[in-house]
Amino acid sequence: MRVLVTGGAGYIGSVVSEELIAANHEIVAFDNLSTGHRDAVAPPTRLIEGDLLDAAAVESALRTHRIDAVVHMAGRALVGESVTDPAAYYRTNVTGGLVLLESMRAAGVPLLVFSSTAAVYGDAEKQPIDETDPLLPTNPYGETKLSFERALRWYGGAYGIRSIALRYFNAAGATQRSGERHPVETHLIPLVLQTALGQRSAITVFGEDYPTPDGTCIRDYVHVSDLARAHVLALEALAAGAPVASYNLGRGGAGSSVREVIDAARRITGRAIDVKSAPRRAGDPARLVASADRIRAALGWTPQRPALEEIVESAWRYVRNRA
Ligand SMILES: NC(=O)c1ccc[n+]([C@@H]2O[C@H](COP(=O)([O-])OP(=O)(O)OC[C@H]3O[C@@H](n4cnc5c(N)ncnc54)[C@H](O)[C@@H]3O)[C@@H](O)[C@H]2O)c1
Repeated sequence: MRVLVTGGAGYIGSVVSEELIAANHEIVAFDNLSTGHRDAVAPPTRLIEGDLLDAAAVESALRTHRIDAVVHMAGRALVGESVTDPAAYYRTNVTGGLVLLESMRAAGVPLLVFSSTAAVYGDAEKQPIDETDPLLPTNPYGETKLSFERALRWYGGAYGIRSIALRYFNAAGATQRSGERHPVETHLIPLVLQTALGQRSAITVFGEDYPTPDGTCIRDYVHVSDLARAHVLALEALAAGAPVASYNLGRGGAGSSVREVIDAARRITGRAIDVKSAPRRAGDPARLVASADRIRAALGWTPQRPALEEIVESAWRYVRNRA
């Protein structure tokens, strides 16, 4: 298939592009480089530098490259920023998404895979979370992702655009060429590794009194290559006629605590990583772990790199090579 990857210059977009290329799909990346990097675009992918809000540019990309399907990963993804500037999140994640859907309708492109998030569940009471659990986002980031997921359902029914939304838990790790390089880094593993490299004096642990075995928050880290493979499976299922759906994308199991991530990084890097204790942050749930049963049953997806050690090790290899 010829696939347009919006956000193809971003962290996950560049790895999804690598996986699509390996599966013999032709890729065109569409990205405004606001948080992405030109050199992250996976060769031989062509990059169209453009903004989602520019309907003419999006439609022209779809028509010029005779695109069959879209993987929509472009978006804003900082929870804190979404609270202080919700307008920016509605503009990019909702309006930008709708511009893309209108352009797809105009150009006759019927298939889409969407980067959604565990933030659509908010502070879920039940763990692991499954797709039938309540959708109660607690910030504009999760709310805007959920709004777009809902639009996808209605567009599917009315206009025949079939889509799969993948609700990522915590994407982590790296491939040989692509890794996490966000201009504003908020994710634990890159921050811990920056501390190991001496780029930060200490890693701040927010809250050590949660009802978890070591008192720190538990999250579900998925290797970015496993996550990327799910996009290939989703696209191929859509091409074979799969209906509109949303799936959790986590490695499941018990998840990993903040302490476990720091300890793994100490072992792997062999470096001291100082920790600074801070109070809990508002809105941080104690535990966010996916049930990935539905995607396993529907698409046959299972993580190939489930070990936290391997995830941290791949991220370390990536940051050390760039340091
Ligand atoms: N990283 C995670 O753990 C995680 C978890 C859940 C969901 N997600 C979602 O996955 C997607 C990719 O995340 P990432 O971590 O790779 O982030 P990223 O910032 O590296 O990638 C996003 C890309 O979108 C581009 N972009 C942003 N606004 C755009 C616009 N208006 N027009 C064109 N391009 C635009 C950016 O330049 C960037 O290359 C996002 O939609 C994010 O919400 C990520």
